[in-house]
Amino acid sequence: MKAVVFAKYGPPDVVTLTDVPRPEPRRREVLIRIHATTVTTADWRARSLHMPAGFGLLGRLVFGIFGPRKPVLGTELAGVIEAVGPGVTRFKPGDQVFAFTGGRYGCHAEYRTMPEDGLLAKKPPNLALDEAASLSFGATNALSFLRKAGIKPSDQVLILGASGNVGTAAVQLAKHFGAEVTAVCSTPNLDLVRSLGADHVIDYTREDFAQQHNRYDIILDTTGTTTLARCEQSLKQNGRLVAIQGSLSQMLGLQRAPRRTGKKVIAGVATVTPADIDLIAHLAERGTLRPVIDRRYPLEAAAQAHAYVDTGRKRGSVVLSVVPDRDVQAKAA
Ligand SMILES: NC(=O)c1ccc[n+]([C@@H]2O[C@H](COP(=O)([O-])OP(=O)(O)OC[C@H]3O[C@@H](n4cnc5c(N)ncnc54)[C@H](OP(=O)(O)O)[C@@H]3O)[C@@H](O)[C@H]2O)c1
Repeated sequence: MKAVVFAKYGPPDVVTLTDVPRPEPRRREVLIRIHATTVTTADWRARSLHMPAGFGLLGRLVFGIFGPRKPVLGTELAGVIEAVGPGVTRFKPGDQVFAFTGGRYGCHAEYRTMPEDGLLAKKPPNLALDEAASLSFGATNALSFLRKAGIKPSDQVLILGASGNVGTAAVQLAKHFGAEVTAVCSTPNLDLVRSLGADHVIDYTREDFAQQHNRYDIILDTTGTTTLARCEQSLKQNGRLVAIQGSLSQMLGLQRAPRRTGKKVIAGVATVTPADIDLIAHLAERGTLRPVIDRRYPLEAAAQAHAYVDTGRKRGSVVLSVVPDRDVQAKAA
């Protein structure tokens, strides 16, 4: 089968399309014919080893000390079940599904196997396959971090990087949890975040939220531009700064506010369960969660897709179309 592989860390052109053996489904596994996948910031980090401040060595430990341990990137997919292994009961050949492989990667290919009880669900019928492929990376991460922050109805939530992959999902999920959402982005993205349900918007090229007098229960930072010291005055009593792109000092709990304020930093990695994937599918089917697709590229143009993701300016998701179709080709133009 065709797959996009990389053998050394580096710029976008280290990824190339090549032939690799097609996997076979083992017991309680399904084989998925991938129709669409995405290039995310997780792929950018694994490919380039560009890590948040203080994490250089950890990057090599996670992704491979002398070179990439997982040659095929891609953390999410949508496609059609091609075959099932012995003992599979939840899916049958022909089912349309979407899945999240996260740190196991392996989606930039024509086929991938998944355990039937893994992070896998039937595709919401109202979504196209490329939309379903764009559902899980942003939504699983946003869901996990909003839960870690203990989001509850009527919370005031500020989202930095609201137009990105995690940000667009976070705006919609925070609204789903009943919060009042302020989305921070640049001028061209204001209409997008309003269309996702943001109650208020701040254009960071014109205004600094930290200089305003509003107070928030949760400040969710997907951009790595905020420290607790910088936003402490913008947090209410017991407010949380959720540092999704956390620095080492945030991860180690070194950024602290006076104990009596109850303010704290939440950082770390997302945790995702099969129930989260089912919830995401349900919310997408209801129209509560809408994937945002910025650009589409054919699988063979993976290096160009990586180059665009590297800009740090994408809106939502960048799709790789594995099974070309006329619509996909037209939109990529
Ligand atoms: N801890 C974890 O487990 C975890 C999980 C997932 C992701 N992450 C990290 O979270 C970060 C975000 O991921 P992502 O996939 O959502 O990124 P993304 O899709 O690449 O985000 C791009 C968006 O960021 C916005 N942006 C850039 N600088 C900004 C600023 N100064 N203020 C406000 N918005 C800004 C851009 O909007 P404008 O063009 O409008 O500026 C763009 O729309 C990445 O660093 C990723 O590594 C961590």
